Amino acid sequence: MFGNEYGMKHQARAALLFGLLSVGCMLDAAAAKRAFEMNIEDTRITLVEKQQFHTFAFAGQVPGPLFYVDEGDDIEVKVNNLTALPHTIHWHGMLQRGSWQMDGVPDVTQEAIKPGDSFTYAFKADPSGTHWYHCHVNVNEHVALRGMWGPFIVKPKKPTPLEQKVTQDHILMLSDWDSKWANKPGFGGLPGDKFDYFTINGRAFPDTEPLRVKKGDVVRLRLIGAGDLVHSVHLHGHAFKIAFKDGFPLANPITADTVLIGPGERYDLIFEADNPGRWMIHDHVDSHTMNGDRPHGGLMAVLEYDEVKRNDSWYPWNKRTPKPNFYYQDSLKKGPGVYTNEAFKGQAIQ
Ligand code: CU
Repeated sequence: MFGNEYGMKHQARAALLFGLLSVGCMLDAAAAKRAFEMNIEDTRITLVEKQQFHTFAFAGQVPGPLFYVDEGDDIEVKVNNLTALPHTIHWHGMLQRGSWQMDGVPDVTQEAIKPGDSFTYAFKADPSGTHWYHCHVNVNEHVALRGMWGPFIVKPKKPTPLEQKVTQDHILMLSDWDSKWANKPGFGGLPGDKFDYFTINGRAFPDTEPLRVKKGDVVRLRLIGAGDLVHSVHLHGHAFKIAFKDGFPLANPITADTVLIGPGERYDLIFEADNPGRWMIHDHVDSHTMNGDRPHGGLMAVLEYDEVKRNDSWYPWNKRTPKPNFYYQDSLKKGPGVYTNEAFKGQAIQ
């Protein structure tokens, strides 16, 4: 996804920085310097069908670009605020040892980035695991209603034996929206708000893409609680291992078929695809499987096996062309880098 000007600028910048800092790198041969630049832009996205939302989107997409880096890398991100409101970025999960000024909390670690201004974050990727980033200004609105979040995955130096078996890696960011604020940027996120749309990676069922696997795959689902509500995520037809909590490996993974995930939490589920079929993965809080006032939507997706034909006339996905990389599964196969995603791009709002 780096064939565009945005990406080429980053690569050139990264190469330049790498050149300038090669002496520093020699001191720590394993740590790469990774420098990126990212805009915050007013962007209209579509949650499902006709339900649109005004967002302040990282690189014009919701979720934001995937940061996939190696543990111990030196990360530098220049953030340009092209919107009319102040923002910051908090790198949720990063411990910021010796770099607390990079923690992205307005009035505590920095002055918020004003409209038209830029700020450069620099920190070490530590610890490894499934993390995320989000704005920390007026979070009730900017995170809960304006899509200011994206995945930040740190590849471990020493992967666990279980995660080394993974053949299909997916990211699922869970969110909640209140449609009455959809077209009122700068407002919303108040007590009494009633969430009426629920999404995985910014889309509600039936517009969530199927997760496609084949028999024998070892599948990892990286759940990230990016919204404001608690979700009870249930997978049909399989028992999974809850293998990581907030990026940290569990000494004794828990075998389960349902996991409760709250705001800010991450759980990595790993299971063997050993039961060909078409299976639901969904929130068991039934009121979260609605689109507005209509049931059978919201926080649901289908796990599809390649071995099972999609030709049933009543199956919503029988004629639709899948958008690749909806769960960043293709990007994660490519290895460390920063990946924008066409599947999540919205329309620019002037
Ligand atoms: Cu913000």
